[in-house]
Amino acid sequence: VQRFNAVVLGAGGVGKSALTVRFVKNSFNELYNPTIEETYRRDIFLDGERYAMEIVDTAGAEQFTALNEQYIRAGHGFVLVFSLTYESSLREIDDIRQQISRVKGANAGTPIVVVGTKLDLVHEREVTRDKIRQLVNEWGLPFYETSAKQNWHVSDVFQDLLAQMRDR
Ligand code: GTP
Ligand code: MG
Repeated sequence: VQRFNAVVLGAGGVGKSALTVRFVKNSFNELYNPTIEETYRRDIFLDGERYAMEIVDTAGAEQFTALNEQYIRAGHGFVLVFSLTYESSLREIDDIRQQISRVKGANAGTPIVVVGTKLDLVHEREVTRDKIRQLVNEWGLPFYETSAKQNWHVSDVFQDLLAQMRDR
């Protein structure tokens, strides 16, 4: 089977691990346990074919972002995660997006999906749909609003990324 390496990047506490663990293990933990680095594997089907996806769940904490360049070099595709409940987490994904362009080449067509998390926390939402739509249109990237807690649109993210990685 064909193997792809996906890397999940974004600020601390935005829900990178929750998204990944929901997809790989179909579970959710309310407790916040900051990540150093975790690698997960899951097979995914696309158009009846099986693919092996390795997913690297990275640390959002600032002291680890120096590692991002290595992750970007090694990755085939990227999930850029921010929290819909924390507007400033958008800045990190913009920085990472620019870093990916620098490392991989601006017109390399690198597979990327942008994810807004914690869609279930309706009353804590800070990022409007208009604002994020405008940004991702500018960036030309696909975007999903998800809830790892409720399992909303989580698999869509990885299916989209797989399709991009396969078709490039
Ligand atoms: P670092 O590993 O430190 O970079 O954080 P992270 O981005 O991996 O965040 P993590 O997945 O650990 O989630 C942080 C907190 O938010 C945890 O308490 C999660 O339970 C919570 N959380 C994550 N996703 C969701 C969600 O979709 N809904 C709700 N309600 N809480 C969420
Ligand atoms: Mg984590």
